[in-house]
Amino acid sequence: MGFEAMWDALAAVGRDRASGGYRRFAWSDADMACREWFAGAACERGMALVEDGNGNAFAWWGDLDAGNAVLTGSHLDSVPDGGAYDGPLGVVSAFAAVDALRERGVEPRRAVGIASFADEEGARFGIACAGSRLLTGSLAADRARGLRDRDGVTLAEVLRGRQRNPDRLGPTPRLLDRLGCFVELHVEQGRGLVEHGAPVGVASAIWPHGRWRFDFRGEANHAGTTPMRDRRDPMLTYAMTALAANKQARLADARATFGRLDVAPNGTNAIPSRVQAWLDARAPDEATVKALVDQVTRQAEERAGRDGTDLTVTMESVTPAVAFDGSLRDRVARVLGGVPVLSTGAGHDAGVLQAAGIPTTMLFVRNPTGVSHAPDEYAEPSDCAAGVTALALLLQELVT
Ligand code: GLV
Ligand code: MN
Ligand code: MN
Repeated sequence: MGFEAMWDALAAVGRDRASGGYRRFAWSDADMACREWFAGAACERGMALVEDGNGNAFAWWGDLDAGNAVLTGSHLDSVPDGGAYDGPLGVVSAFAAVDALRERGVEPRRAVGIASFADEEGARFGIACAGSRLLTGSLAADRARGLRDRDGVTLAEVLRGRQRNPDRLGPTPRLLDRLGCFVELHVEQGRGLVEHGAPVGVASAIWPHGRWRFDFRGEANHAGTTPMRDRRDPMLTYAMTALAANKQARLADARATFGRLDVAPNGTNAIPSRVQAWLDARAPDEATVKALVDQVTRQAEERAGRDGTDLTVTMESVTPAVAFDGSLRDRVARVLGGVPVLSTGAGHDAGVLQAAGIPTTMLFVRNPTGVSHAPDEYAEPSDCAAGVTALALLLQELVT
């Protein structure tokens, strides 16, 4: 199956008819269908399929025990109503690049693996890159087992329901010790390559970023009979906090987003008792992220005092800045003849592997609008083909 046939086979999986976006949440039916697709692509190529204890799937060409293996790939899960490219482009391109190497008669001197990392987006259990973090040990297995989805079901329960053993969560030294490097190809999530007029670029760094949960508590009461002055309305405190986050991020040249909200009891004619809101904050450096979150928290607390509400802020995950491997990037530049170098505000499994000491690089494929984490995410077929060509050239350089 070539690139287009693989792409078409995945296209309908987990796609919501109304929004046109993807809902491929970890261990959902859609995620299981993606896993089957991955197994089929591996099997069709005679690649050995291995799943680690964290649900990360790998397809291997060659003997991993030879060591210094070259891993590529990305993820197949999505954010709520995500686009088709974030993740799948890297996995499909990896299979297409392996096909290109084989057609050229390349005989790798080290194993080539294709990864599909579990729960990269953290859309179900809240922790981004859970699969790669568990693999590398930066997310503790005990914490992961207890993570709950929006229905209160733990990851451990979900894994058992999918015939996986939650006791197997955790680092996989056998794999980590044999990895030489990781290359993740990804759709660009901005317009940097449009501005450079180039179909493919290479990553320099990932901005530090994190997720904080704001729990606002007030007093539920009747929307019609409670005078405005008598209210303790957590929605008001939240609303002002969202405005403050936006303003502070603009002032600091950072990013702040409240994209997820859980309101109780969520009735039109009742003042809420509780609002939970998740802040996603990012900036080019860690001090700016910290200052931003501190400032938003201070303003939220001050407003809570005036509204008669309570607030607690819980850090759910923080990812420090990542600088990708310089010598690998130089090799990319040599092989591809010089491509734009871009930093990104998006998180990736590539960042987790690099932080764990595995030399890592990322190739970006041009996105004409820059839209991502939304159904309009797109890359032109000719740019996807340029991405496969670039990835195949790089893999050939790395394995021969
Ligand atoms: C992952 O795509 C993220 O940056 O949140
Ligand atoms: Mn994403
Ligand atoms: Mn991604």
